[in-house]
Amino acid sequence: MSSAGPQGLQAVPEELQDRESWLDPFDWYERMRDEAPVRYDPERRTWDVFRYEDVKRVLDDDDTFSADPGEASDFVEPEGPGEGLILDTMLFEDPPRHDELRNVVDEWFQPRTLADREPHFRELAGELLDDAVGPGGEMDVVGDLAYPFPVTVIGELLGVPSSDHDRFKTWSDTLVEAASDGESADAFADRQQRTQMEMGQYFLEMIEDRREDPRDDLLSVIVTAESSEGETLSREEALGMCILLLVAGNITTTNLITNAVRCFAEADGDLFDDLRGDDRALTGAVEEVVRYRSPVQAMSRVATEDVTMRGETVEAGDRIIVWLGSANRDERKFEAADEFRPDRSPAQHLGFGHGTHYCLGAPLARLEAKVGLSELLDRVENVRLAETSLQPTRSSFVYGVESLPIRYDER
Ligand code: HEM
Repeated sequence: MSSAGPQGLQAVPEELQDRESWLDPFDWYERMRDEAPVRYDPERRTWDVFRYEDVKRVLDDDDTFSADPGEASDFVEPEGPGEGLILDTMLFEDPPRHDELRNVVDEWFQPRTLADREPHFRELAGELLDDAVGPGGEMDVVGDLAYPFPVTVIGELLGVPSSDHDRFKTWSDTLVEAASDGESADAFADRQQRTQMEMGQYFLEMIEDRREDPRDDLLSVIVTAESSEGETLSREEALGMCILLLVAGNITTTNLITNAVRCFAEADGDLFDDLRGDDRALTGAVEEVVRYRSPVQAMSRVATEDVTMRGETVEAGDRIIVWLGSANRDERKFEAADEFRPDRSPAQHLGFGHGTHYCLGAPLARLEAKVGLSELLDRVENVRLAETSLQPTRSSFVYGVESLPIRYDER
């Protein structure tokens, strides 16, 4: 495996080597959009694309820009057991295989399917907040709501026991984090591989179990697609799908909810009053959070043919990182792009991607954010940040903080 990891995303550009800068990459993005909107970084052997128009062009053109890391000229086939599971998923496949994989679970993530579950999601968020919100007037948004809520939801949808949720966090964190300070590329790759192996083993047992005892959950849907006649999924693909849904389904939403509370706490005026009881306004504000503090800052692609962008020649087999977080702050596209405007609409951000790989879980993420935040707004009058120095996540492309202590006045 190359030191850039399977997605090429874990290699951190020189400009973001200092972890502190992960919380504020926006000045750097702006400089790059102006001075080097498409640039090659020889250290990471990767192109970086920063402007909205260019990022969207890459995402919209599957033929020229493949999502499959195996297309990269320096790609090394994974050899260790379990190492390639995540590569066998829709996220890293191009059409037509991509569409077949996505179709297996697509129905479960449609807004109308999810709507039936909203009351139950509300109960889950409400219970967490009833425990957290009290006369003390302090809580940690991440630990008390934004982590446990999405992991419980995706755990329930998949059909895995809630007693295993702690393991999910460790696994998910490892799969998206950058190498630790001083950790060698090999040690980092080993750690990643071990995690995929453990997850593969875990889901193998779950799959065996569902084969005997199918239920109304995603694991059963995946098992059916794997074991039916004229099967749609190979064993590896079934395991990869479980891993992808678990990881994509929790870390991103954790950061959306946390980033939203951070944006709301920092906003001027009576935003809490404006959003409380107004689902439409809240939904719009959540969309603006996805633009302004995009939980996923970057995604990767590989050029399948030589292509010219802004006068630069990207060669077939070259890796490309598209900076969604930069595209979403591009002043060529958004007026006052560096301002958080909760009533900005329509947003047209690229925070959930665009085109073929547009986030499968976007309707779920939106629903969870709406439910979690409206339950919070029902319980607190207002929110202030209790900590000025915030620690970024351990991932350079998942934008958020490790914890968000707040003070509030109870309603
Ligand atoms: C794809 C962001 C929540 C599952 C994506 C992509 C982005 C993204 C940017 C595009 C990847 C690409 O173009 O290569 C987010 C954000 C979320 C979120 C910001 C929360 C705020 C979720 C949830 C799930 C999920 C809750 C559900 C389990 C997926 C899957 C894909 C995907 C399966 C791959 C889709 C495909 O390849 O067709 N997400 N996501 N995501 N997301 Fe999400």
